[in-house]
Amino acid sequence: MKLKVLISLVAFLAVTGAFAHSGASGVVLERMEMMKDISDQMKIIVTMVKGDEAYDAGRAQAAAQAIAGHARTLTEKFPEGSIGHPSEAIPAIWENWDDFVEQTEQLHATAIALADQAASADSADSLRDEVAAVGQTCSSCHQDFRKAN
Ligand code: HEC
Repeated sequence: MKLKVLISLVAFLAVTGAFAHSGASGVVLERMEMMKDISDQMKIIVTMVKGDEAYDAGRAQAAAQAIAGHARTLTEKFPEGSIGHPSEAIPAIWENWDDFVEQTEQLHATAIALADQAASADSADSLRDEVAAVGQTCSSCHQDFRKAN
């Protein structure tokens, strides 16, 4: 059981309620909005896993599919050198582009696995490992490619 990952994920999603979008424009704003949606979709699933809401397989599956969809277009939202206030992206993204792309693929693969599991699961409890796997790709990419807060 990857309970620790799940707990830190819940904490992460909770603190990302307030976004520093002000001053953002163009592709930086677009990707912030995309990350916000990824985060909102995760919240839908995590709320069910925590037992705060009844399990709805169709809703969980749709949320995971939406995350997978974003993962497919994520790299397009990071044209080289698109940094500067208020972006939290760091130059390491373009210095390690292959690794960055690989992490978007991880996000895609884990989100698809979560969607598949949601389709066949009859309780949110059986999504824990898959949710944790998605959560791990969020933290891993943020750790490598996003300014530490
Ligand atoms: C491939 C790398 C990568 C993955 C995977 C990733 N992120 Fe991000 N995320 C970033 C980067 C880089 C930023 C900073 C973008 C910026 O500020 O320009 C960011 C920013 C964010 C933000 C802040 C947006 C804002 O308005 O400032 C949230 C929330 C977020 N990510 C949530 C998530 C969640 C939840 C997941 C997993 C389901 C995830 N991210 C997966 C790279 C990633």
